[in-house]
This record gives sequence, C-alpha cells and structure tokens, in this order.
Amino acid sequence: MKPGEARRFADATAVGPEAVRALAEEFVTLHHHENPGAGSPDRRLAEISAEISRTGTYTHTPQELDFGAKVAWRNSIRCIGRLYWQSLIVRDRRHVEGADRIAQEAVRHLQQATNGGRIRPYLTVFAPDRPRRPAPRIWNDQLIRYAGYTRPDGSVLGDPVSAELTAAARNLGWPGGPGTPFDILPLIVHGHDDKPQWFELPESAVLQVPIEHPEHGWFARLGVRWYAVPAVSNMRLDIGGVRYPLAPFNGWYMGTEIGARNLADTDRYNLLPGIARRLGLDTSRDRSLWKDRALVELNIAVLHSFEQAGVTISDHHTESRHFLAHLAREERAGRAVGADWSWIVPPMSGATTPVFHRYYDTEQRHPAFVYQPEALGEGTGACPQEARQNLPDAAGDPARTCPYDTADSHGGATPHDGQP
Ligand code: ARG
Repeated sequence: MKPGEARRFADATAVGPEAVRALAEEFVTLHHHENPGAGSPDRRLAEISAEISRTGTYTHTPQELDFGAKVAWRNSIRCIGRLYWQSLIVRDRRHVEGADRIAQEAVRHLQQATNGGRIRPYLTVFAPDRPRRPAPRIWNDQLIRYAGYTRPDGSVLGDPVSAELTAAARNLGWPGGPGTPFDILPLIVHGHDDKPQWFELPESAVLQVPIEHPEHGWFARLGVRWYAVPAVSNMRLDIGGVRYPLAPFNGWYMGTEIGARNLADTDRYNLLPGIARRLGLDTSRDRSLWKDRALVELNIAVLHSFEQAGVTISDHHTESRHFLAHLAREERAGRAVGADWSWIVPPMSGATTPVFHRYYDTEQRHPAFVYQPEALGEGTGACPQEARQNLPDAAGDPARTCPYDTADSHGGATPHDGQP
C-alpha cells in the first residue's frame, strides 16, 4: 500500500460472532432491566442474533445507543464527574461519512456543548467498526488542543503533550499557527475510504478563557489561557459487542485538571517556577513549599477566570462531594460503582477532599470507554498497511497498532496521565 492510499481491507472485526452475541445479550438484558418500558428482551435478542449471523455484527437502536453511552460514562472508573451521567446528550451521527462532514459534526458538537459558556455534556457517535469496514478516526486526543512546536534544541513552544500531533499535522501540510504558546491545532480526520485530512477549527467552536488572578495584576500579563471544553476524542466506546472508535465526548473542567496538571506539570506548561518567583518565594529550597504555594495561586486564578468569563467549571472540593453523592445514589439504585482511587483523588489537596478517605470497588463494568491503539500515523504510509494486517493482538484489538511504533508512543501511562 502506497502513502496516501485509501484504507480498505483492514479487518476491523475485533471479536467473533459468538463473543458479539454474548456481549449483546448482556447489554440488552441490562437495557431492558433498567428501562422496563422497553418490554421483554427476548424478541430484541432474537432479532440481534439473526443480524449477527448475517453480518457479523448488529445495529443499535437509537435508544440502545443513548442508554449505552450514558452507562459507559456511569462506568468510567477514572471519572469523578459521574453524578450527571443521565444528562449526557447523545448525538447519533453513525450515518455521517467523509472526512469533511465528520469534521463539520465535530465542530457542531463543540458549538452545542459550549453553549455560550454554560457547558453541557455531549457525545457524538460516528459509525462503528464493522467486518471489513473500519470506523473513521480523529487523530487528535481532544477536539481542542494547543499545538506544541518542537524547536531544533528539543524544547517545545506550546503544549508538549501535543508535540507528536503537531508534527503529524505539519507533515500533512498544515502550515502551522501564528506561533504562540496557545495555537489551536487543526482536527485531523481519517474517514472510511480516504486519506487523513486536516481541518482548521473555526473560532466559533473554540471558547477560551484568559487566566487572571483576583489579587495579582501581573498574572494576566503572563498571557496564559485555556479552552473551555475538554472533549476527549481518542477513546473507544464499547457497547454490547459493538465498538465505536470515534465517539468524542465532553463534560466541563474541574479546575485542577488545568491548574494542577496542564499548566503546572513540568512536562506540560511548567508555570510554577515563574509564578513562584513573581510571588517572591524562595525557590532555592523545596521546603519553602514554593511549589505548593504557587500551585494554590494558579488554581485560584483558573477558577476565578472561568467564573468571571461565565464558563462552567467546578472545584475539586465540590466535585468530590458530588462524587460521594453519586456513589450513594447508585447504591440506592442497587448498582455497584467502580472507581480508581489514583484518578478520583484530585492532584492537589487530596486529603482535604472526602474521596481520599476510603477505598473503592475497582471493577470496570460494561458498556465502557476504553483506550485503543492510536490512530495517529494511520493511512499515511508512515506505517505500512501490509504490516498491520493480521497482527496478533493479545488484547483482541483491531490490528491497528503500528509495529514500527515504539512502545511508549502508546503511552506507558502513569497514574494521572492525562487525568481525568
Ligand atoms: N484532563 C483532561 C484535560 O485536562 C480532560 C479530560 C476530561 N475532563 C473532563 N472534565 N471531562 O484536558
């Protein structure tokens, strides 16, 4: 297969018909159990079984898709924001084909989710993997990301988390942005029968908040900003044996994601040393706790700025309480809730929040959002298609992993990697 040639024959059937049948049965049973109005599951299961025999897979009804997506959120063991799982708005776009139309739908997703600052949780589902017909993908790990330009000396202008994606965009012909630390990356969409293409996001789809501090005037002059809507676009939605590799979803931010990770991590924007110096702190000794003090001020600035701008954001104390309310509510409904302590506990002031002081059931239930092999590089010839065919994959994933990739480009994830 030559560079740029369309992807056509990869067998995307991840699981055989028997496994699909078993997963479908489990899911449909759950759907009917939680929605008594849907009647007895037997008729639906017979229908599904026949479709699987014919095609190797089956098609969810809009109701099943809606329910499955909500429950996948409810089951996300790393997410602290699950109290609102029933409010997810599911956009069924399974019929949308062509990179340009997919990009257009991603833009509409952002516009609707942004809602002028009153952010609403949305999920847009595109076509699932089918036998001999892999689903479309978006290379970006979030619909909105800041570019990270690697300089000749190896340092990065912008967000280092996106250095690889930025280079990939340039390789596809993206001319680059204005060259600030906060240039918005284009979307890179790989449709069904086409090569990957990049699309600039319109301004109307990207609400951003300039970060300022309620007391320190110099803070605004740092020129720091962040985008309003975190829309994860690289996780696969698995519902009852059907896999949706492209199903971008968003909630709203919890302040610490931005203030204690994106802007603070030493391998991200690394702002703490500069902030500490401006605060006049002694940065020569760890035990002056300059990092801790700078971290608090940065997080105050993030929460304050979003609030001033009228953009939804929550703080880690409130969100922790809400999470415990969620656990209690689910328990009353007779459902077990899985949770991963290392992700649920906020990355600052952990023990001041109630979620710190307990253990959790860690089981990952289904439907679920799962990690999947990166799409980045697919369909460009950088990873020869031939080499990807029939790859044995212990996890039973579609043979999408490029064998030439280094192990850590698939993310030897550390706790809190990209949290949450
Ligand atoms: N932690 C990621 C970020 O900082 C976003 C993950 C989703 N977060 C959310 N609040 N829904 O960009």
